[in-house]
Amino acid sequence: MIVLHQRAEIESYMLDLRKFSSSIGFVPTMGALHAGHMSLVSKSLEQNDYTVVSIFVNPTQFNNSNDLETYPRTLTADLAMLEAAGCDVVFVPEVHEIYPEGTDVQESYDFGNLEMVMEGVHRPGHFKGVANVVHRLFKMVMPTRSYFGLKDYQQLAIIKALVAQYSLPIEIIPCEIVREPDGLAMSSRNVRLLPEQRKHAVFISQALFNAKSQKKSVEETKKSVINAIKSVPLLLLEYFEIVDGTTLQPIRQWSESKNPVGCIAVHVGTVRLIDVIMF
Ligand code: PAJ
Repeated sequence: MIVLHQRAEIESYMLDLRKFSSSIGFVPTMGALHAGHMSLVSKSLEQNDYTVVSIFVNPTQFNNSNDLETYPRTLTADLAMLEAAGCDVVFVPEVHEIYPEGTDVQESYDFGNLEMVMEGVHRPGHFKGVANVVHRLFKMVMPTRSYFGLKDYQQLAIIKALVAQYSLPIEIIPCEIVREPDGLAMSSRNVRLLPEQRKHAVFISQALFNAKSQKKSVEETKKSVINAIKSVPLLLLEYFEIVDGTTLQPIRQWSESKNPVGCIAVHVGTVRLIDVIMF
């Protein structure tokens, strides 16, 4: 496994690699790797000749400076996991490699209604930062396929839109949500939960699973999830929406969508967690 830090290095390495490999899989991450990330890496290893992973805590997508400062960084452990998995290339750039003109100089994108809901409303500027970093990484790596988790459902929709808008020859592969044994969606931020908060966090996925198994009307389903979260101490609901999985616009009847998706964001102390359920 080779670890590269500079933009020029990854660009020339990828240029050579492309000459003798038919497919390159790319998994962008912010590190603090867990089994969720590793499932994306495994899928890439299965489907491609070469797998490239990036580890970069992208400052432009954090709308909260405390979240950026406290974001877990575990590079040594991350590299060991990737090496053991059989990853070929890891790109670990400094901020100036991605933003040579400074983080204020960013491309503007228009994702229309996709960014007017949920995370787009509650984390202003977040998707602009995500689109900037992913687009820049795509240009450097130029992969055949790139892997994204369904946990960040709206992010996945934005990335698909980015690829379509710029006609990038990259296949976007959605990957299932990996959960802890009790159902909590794995997240790098979970390590920041205090033991008591961790115990309560399980009720987020539980509320979603219950809603799915009962499947009442859309309105009643929304109410039941909202009430379930409100009844748990230490959990503060930011939003729960049931949306069409393609347009991300809220639906009022199940019949309005072929792939309805429930998306939730909850604060547990200073930690913000998201989760998703497909109905
Ligand atoms: P990060 O949160 O590190 O996640 C990297 C990838 O892993 C994303 O595609 C995310 O959806 C996926 N992932 C995280 N937890 C998962 C889980 N429990 N199950 C399955 N997949 C999971 O998402 C980002 O980084 C950044 O926004 C990034 C795309 C790298 C741009 O900076």
